[in-house]
Amino acid sequence: MTTLRISAVPSAIILLLLAVPALVCAHAQSSPTPNPQLASKDIDGRVEALLKQMTLEEKIGQTVQYSAGFATGPSASKLTYDELVAKGQVGSMLNVVGADRTNHYQHIAMEKSRLHIPIIFGLDVIHGHRTTFPVPLAVAASWDPEAAETVARLGAAEARADGVTWVFSPMVDIARDPRWGRIIESNGEDPYLSSALARAWVKGYQQGDLSKSDSVAACVKHFAAYGAAIAGRDYNAADMSEITLRQIYLKPYHAAVDAGVATVMTSFNTINGIPATADPFTLTQILRKEWRFDGFVVSDWGAVGELKNHSIGDGPTVARKALEAGTDMDMEGDLYGTVLAGQIRSGKIPESVVDEAVRRILRVKFALGLFDHPYTNVGPAYTATAEKRAIARKVADETMVLLKNDPVEGVGALLPLSEKTKTVALIGPMADDAVDLIGAWTVTGNPKDVITLKTALSERLGDKLLYAPGCGLLTGQDENVLNSVSFTGTATPTVSQPLPDDEQMISEAVATARKADVSILALGEPTNWMEGEASSRVHLGFTGNQEKLLEAVVANGKPVILVVLAGRPLELTWAAEHVPAILEAWSPGIEAGPAVTDILFGDVNPSGKLPSSFPRAVGQEPLYYAQMPTGRPATGDLSHLPANSDEKFVSRYLDEENSALFPFGWGLSYTRFSYTNPTVDHAEVPIRTVVDDHQPVVSVSVDVKNTGTVQGAEVVQLYIRNTAASVEQPVRELKGFKRITLAPGEAKHITFPLGFDELNFYNVDLKKTVEPTIYKIWVGGSSLATAETSLNIVE
Ligand code: NOJ
Repeated sequence: MTTLRISAVPSAIILLLLAVPALVCAHAQSSPTPNPQLASKDIDGRVEALLKQMTLEEKIGQTVQYSAGFATGPSASKLTYDELVAKGQVGSMLNVVGADRTNHYQHIAMEKSRLHIPIIFGLDVIHGHRTTFPVPLAVAASWDPEAAETVARLGAAEARADGVTWVFSPMVDIARDPRWGRIIESNGEDPYLSSALARAWVKGYQQGDLSKSDSVAACVKHFAAYGAAIAGRDYNAADMSEITLRQIYLKPYHAAVDAGVATVMTSFNTINGIPATADPFTLTQILRKEWRFDGFVVSDWGAVGELKNHSIGDGPTVARKALEAGTDMDMEGDLYGTVLAGQIRSGKIPESVVDEAVRRILRVKFALGLFDHPYTNVGPAYTATAEKRAIARKVADETMVLLKNDPVEGVGALLPLSEKTKTVALIGPMADDAVDLIGAWTVTGNPKDVITLKTALSERLGDKLLYAPGCGLLTGQDENVLNSVSFTGTATPTVSQPLPDDEQMISEAVATARKADVSILALGEPTNWMEGEASSRVHLGFTGNQEKLLEAVVANGKPVILVVLAGRPLELTWAAEHVPAILEAWSPGIEAGPAVTDILFGDVNPSGKLPSSFPRAVGQEPLYYAQMPTGRPATGDLSHLPANSDEKFVSRYLDEENSALFPFGWGLSYTRFSYTNPTVDHAEVPIRTVVDDHQPVVSVSVDVKNTGTVQGAEVVQLYIRNTAASVEQPVRELKGFKRITLAPGEAKHITFPLGFDELNFYNVDLKKTVEPTIYKIWVGGSSLATAETSLNIVE
């Protein structure tokens, strides 16, 4: 932005503006126009015409979804789907994949059911469909919405070719506690970053036009606040003020709705005591009335039936409550299909309520073009082509976060690895573990497509590479715990088998490390069924004997590089103290080995930044950078300051620092970037000019220079702090970021617009507002940014 709006305003008008009350509130919520991808006269006409012909049973049928194939939760039903589909009593199916399988049911729906209404097939396409990309938390670490869009776009095309017309993604639950295993599916802890990514995922899946042959309907989930599960235990309650709900947790879902997402999934948790699947406040007041969402809402798996466990009624009652609250479709629940008709016939639910749910569902089916093109052509079997691999590798490259790269005496920085290094030892159970490198929660991804670290590094190094697995990922005891978790359905958890004798293997690994100039330790956690849903942990260290392995190899004295392969922030405290170089590589997907190799050898300069704070100890959780101020701040509260000092009556832990081990936004490069001249083009702005929701009022700029010797990409981040709000605001909040690439010595002048959208907060009346205040502003390469300026909002 080059000009300031107020500079163009005549002074008389400024005087007039100054006369308005100092405290300016915008509309309580924005009012986007209805989704153009769903709303058209043609669609509405077809929906109404069809609805008129439907019997009550056929209407209810549209609200019913069953899983045929495999289960991704406890199974509800053993019904014969062919029969139900033929009667028009199944509107949707999930977990049916492949042109032949989807066509089977679609033919029945189109040819045997009375009204020929097509089925919408849904599936968890979480980080790609067949071509498996890094997990969503890793994609978030790229801070690159275009990368997210690419992953979604390719996933959509592959899913649609497999008969899947609806994907249960993106998951945008704000996740501030890595004990919660589903953090892996999230965009991390921050509402601004997560909202930017939410828009990109939706755009990639839907491409602004659901009827395209390679688009799918997206489903933003899990509405709402599922990630705020108390103590990080999955499915647990969420409890928070409405200000926090609106200002932090709802933002990314809202961004997805504004981006035109066609569907929303409810969550399993309660929010302030009300189960989300039967919550009229979130599902109707906020979603429909305030955000004007006009797609449909599906429950999470069995969540309608599980309302009984929340003690809000028997089967018929909870079905009524869920439907009336705004849950239009019952996923694998069996309740809508069995009890709604009775409730409607007895007058307990007006038929107009089910009519509205059906309208919403049919609208999406029409928009997808399913009535006109219900079937999927059987195409060639999937292969991970070179082209697809190149895309997956590029995305994976961007997700890698270099956490630490301290010089080693007599050697210098270990990374990037020099081609001259004579012998490299690759050690650790993740090094050659395709099942875990592909990442949690992939339904159709195939570990056989994964190029492991061992394969990629031995291609690069030939016989200069030595290898030792070092230990198993789990001890026998861990494995017992996992095996005792019963899982209903045909899919069974596959956990890499613990290797027989860890002690023996650790000594072999140490011997291997001794023969090499440098060791690369590939450690992590088993992603399959130990990350993702129902995978909460109270210990966040490496699983099994991996920490022992690390300590033994480090003790041997030769330099060590640690590559962490896990879908959640692990506790890396010992490693951070004793290992000079640490790369967070997440769960990288099919191009795991090549992408890690790119970074280790400096073919690609690392540029990922943490979307989630890494703790020093689990006891700090939930840990996030955007903490609220306290009346007794500890010296270390701004996290860039060192320890908590020795103060007593302050907000601190006695036995650990308050700050993150590696903070939000953190990530190093093989070059260095300087930040100079942070400036706001108008340091003082009258409040009245900040009322327009969507116009920037000032521009913040900073000069960023690559002061090193190699090209590098940097994610320039902008943080603000509102220092005098009527409702206290966090010590820092992300309000802008840009990914830039700079050649050695090159500098760029980077600007960020700031306006109502970035500056507002919710006041005690729950209105978005901006008040006279001073905003502190920082620009830099992480949440510890120090280049500072300020903006004064005056009356
Ligand atoms: C339950 C999970 O919570 C949800 O994310 C997923 O989409 C459904 N199961 C369907 O598999």
